[in-house]
Amino acid sequence: MSAAAGPTRGDARWWHPVAGLDELIGPGPWPLRLLGQDLVLWRSLGGLQAFDDRCPHRGARLSLGRVVDDQLQCAYHGWCFDSAGACRSVPALPGFVPPTGHAVAAWQVATAHGLIWLARDPLQPAPPACEGVPQRRVVCGPYTVETSAPRVVENFLDTSHFAFVHEGWLGDAGHPEVPAYAVDHTADGRPLIPHYRAWQPRASASSDQGAWVDYRYEVLSPYTALLQKQPEGGGVADAYTAFACPLDEDRTRVWFLQYTSDTATPDAELQAFQDSIFGQDRPVLESQRPQRLPISGGELHSAADRLSAAYRRWLQLQVVGFGVC
Ligand code: FES
Ligand SMILES: [Fe+2]
Repeated sequence: MSAAAGPTRGDARWWHPVAGLDELIGPGPWPLRLLGQDLVLWRSLGGLQAFDDRCPHRGARLSLGRVVDDQLQCAYHGWCFDSAGACRSVPALPGFVPPTGHAVAAWQVATAHGLIWLARDPLQPAPPACEGVPQRRVVCGPYTVETSAPRVVENFLDTSHFAFVHEGWLGDAGHPEVPAYAVDHTADGRPLIPHYRAWQPRASASSDQGAWVDYRYEVLSPYTALLQKQPEGGGVADAYTAFACPLDEDRTRVWFLQYTSDTATPDAELQAFQDSIFGQDRPVLESQRPQRLPISGGELHSAADRLSAAYRRWLQLQVVGFGVC
């Protein structure tokens, strides 16, 4: 699919993170980018609302407008839209009752994990849940990266780059080997690795020595994934989510949420650790060509890439069309 073709209906039906709750102060409106489309988010008395950022009258961006009397008013000729997207008034024609066809397309909005999520005609009732993760949550990012969301998620699922990209941190140059691991699937078919054992020189911000770490990986949705890690013999348990927002086919905004049993290390230190890790990933990610993830051939897999291969197969089965080729 080309960038100009826009998202398929299927891609918009998954929940996508678009903004942090703490980014949204006041009524808005705020312009957003999702799946190659411009959207507008605003706050009505009933909560956050999201529309296509295009006025049905003359195509002006609604995010240039303002929130008046619990409606979003277009900046160009002042048409007003209620929280369902219905046009409620046309100021040039006082007394005119706009027909239902004068509406703007609305998206569904949800809040989860401290982020705002959008979907249109969603496949799932809610954004992905993260079962069994430690309670403390630290938001790392968002990072805007010049590649597709599936490239970002596949990198998050990829273990054989640790010894090279994260040498001395998540991997050891003396031990690049990937132990054999099994890929399993959730009841609804999403790929997961129940156990993956890795030697890590510095597995987390609070670790000061190497440890064998037990990983669990799970694909949550086309552009989101969860990993849980626990050093063998105890110690700090961590879980990370990659929540990727596909801005465009080749541009992605990603949050890494850390859930941790570490109650001592300050947020800023955990965030700085993640900044360092992602700073190591970024140049490689932005160098990959094509930027979209090839899911129907064109790249070589080794036996160490089983999870990546399973992720690509699953994207194919879901008929994901955005950010892949
Ligand atoms: S373009 Fe929005 S009111 Fe005319
Ligand atoms: Fe990495």
